[in-house]
Amino acid sequence: MREWHTLSTDELLDIKSGLEKQLEEYGALGLDLDLSRGKPSSDMLDLSNEIAGGLDGFISEDGADVRNYGILTGLPEMKRLFSALTGVPEESMVIGGNSSLALMYQSFVNLYLFGATGGDPWMGQKVKILCPSPGYDRHFGLASDFGAELIAVPMTDEGPDMDVAEKLAAEDEAVKGIWVVPLYSNPGGAVTSGKTAKRLAEMKTAAPDFRIFWDNAYGIHHIWEEHEAPDILKLCLEAGCPERAYVYFSTSKINFPGAGVSFIAAGPEEAKKFAAHMNRQMISYDKINQLRTVKFFGGDPDVVRAHMKRLADRFRPKFETVFRCLSQLDGLGILEWKKPLGGYFVAIDTLPGCAKRVVELAKSAGVTLTDAGATWPYGDDPNDSNIRIAPSYADGEQIEKTMEILLVCIKLASAEKLTS
Ligand SMILES: Cc1ncc(COP(=O)(O)O)c(C=O)c1O
Repeated sequence: MREWHTLSTDELLDIKSGLEKQLEEYGALGLDLDLSRGKPSSDMLDLSNEIAGGLDGFISEDGADVRNYGILTGLPEMKRLFSALTGVPEESMVIGGNSSLALMYQSFVNLYLFGATGGDPWMGQKVKILCPSPGYDRHFGLASDFGAELIAVPMTDEGPDMDVAEKLAAEDEAVKGIWVVPLYSNPGGAVTSGKTAKRLAEMKTAAPDFRIFWDNAYGIHHIWEEHEAPDILKLCLEAGCPERAYVYFSTSKINFPGAGVSFIAAGPEEAKKFAAHMNRQMISYDKINQLRTVKFFGGDPDVVRAHMKRLADRFRPKFETVFRCLSQLDGLGILEWKKPLGGYFVAIDTLPGCAKRVVELAKSAGVTLTDAGATWPYGDDPNDSNIRIAPSYADGEQIEKTMEILLVCIKLASAEKLTS
């Protein structure tokens, strides 16, 4: 097998016309395939169906009637289960509704309207947020909606590139925060190392109210080996910045994305402030769902872990299909990719300037992929090379077909680029 950049133009043009024909044939099939969003498949959701089976009562372990108002920050048994799973202390936690993204959004509302401990409201100030890229489009969109300027920071296998992050945060007091998905980053599946986390906790920031938005969405979502997210709250405490990090987690990809339970955890002052602002918004979140969730797992973290293993057993073959297909391009010098360590996605890098074209070609053959560029601030990948593959929702056959077409699109876009 020869690297494509060593092929002559005639050889490449030959390959190109064969690929064009192939793609036309796929287009004529009228397919409708989708590897664009990280949703669990129905058979993964089915593993939690019994959660909807009802409760045998509405009384929580300390005697509260969960149908009624009260217990603002969440049921103790819910906190205890979350704490056993994530290592986050119960007293630092505020339980939310079904979406951790809503808690992230609320953190921004609070920061913009009321300010962080030790700082003025962010509203009216120049705010820049560091965005390890490729990263999660919804994080970037959220911060951008508030008017923050998004600054791309390279992602490494150990998390955000700390040389870059430290320099930016130290130099500019407008740099007020950083997004981090510590375990199985979206989309690359990287794990933030203890060393990176320590640097984040200890780094000198020009802004006194710098915040780490630590979104541990995939905190127990192991597919192969098990990894653990560093304890960022503890590291911040030890570094003398106890209020620096907000931690987020939810059961969206444990039971139901549309009906799970989330939490935010923070330093002592910030956790109190978050609860106080929440207290103006509501008298309590849905405690019936909290109780149902705890009961479904018998309140036992080992039962949750066993459930995660069953989910991984359903998910793993889908990943393996993606890997097997992508490996077919190894040695051609037209695609770079790495196996994620866990989580929900596979990130690939085409030749520079080819990602948008790949997504466009795939669309013409009935395949929907996450928009090229979506993994970068403002949807603008400076290399136009990163594409996120989300294999969770489709079934094995659909993934196989989609990948077959995707490979043709990658090859065609590369041949076009190399002959242009
Ligand atoms: C990194 C990350 N954070 C958060 C979410 C969504 O979390 P939730 O359903 O708790 O709002 C996702 C969903 O794909 C995600 O990938």
